[in-house]
Amino acid sequence: MATKSLLLAALLVVISLAPHPAEADNKQPPLALVAGVVPCSAGSSINAAAVPPFPNAVVHMVCGGRVVAGTKADDGGAFTMNMGPATSSLLAPLLGNQCKVVVVTPLAACNASLASVTGTLAAPVQLLGVDSGSGSGGLGGLGGLIGLIGQIVGGLLGGILNIIPLPFSVV
Ligand SMILES: *[C@@H]1O[C@H](CO)[C@@H](O)[C@H](O)[C@H]1NC(C)=O
Repeated sequence: MATKSLLLAALLVVISLAPHPAEADNKQPPLALVAGVVPCSAGSSINAAAVPPFPNAVVHMVCGGRVVAGTKADDGGAFTMNMGPATSSLLAPLLGNQCKVVVVTPLAACNASLASVTGTLAAPVQLLGVDSGSGSGGLGGLGGLIGLIGQIVGGLLGGILNIIPLPFSVV
């Protein structure tokens, strides 16, 4: 989609033009945390609120085909995955839609009737914004996202970069 390429191009420009963190305010980059609930269901764009959760599912964050983080969901299928500091090398694949949450545990583990399902639950991810001690940076549209990334890369924002999985699908 043209809009998406434009957005990515703009973001890459912002990243490359941003002051080096050492020259700026010297904040640690925000910690990138991915939080969501794994659904126990097969299908496409699963509404996690409408189906049972997938307890104890092992989830990975895969960016550009590489596993960059992982964790295990709790009894209610809820997980929080720590991707480490949101440096530009982490932001670039996130913004380029090259990252997805992949459920490693087979669906049969939460429902034996789903043993015949071939494929893996996976979800694209979305950046929600930053919670920092001194306020929060939400995403107010296109300028908001670019501004937010510029502030992160420029070393002006610490705190937590909140990321959520979009609806899961079996792929
Ligand atoms: C298990 O999966 C089957 C097939 O999708 C579904 O009909 C059933 O309701 C599920 N069981 C539970 C406990 O969710």
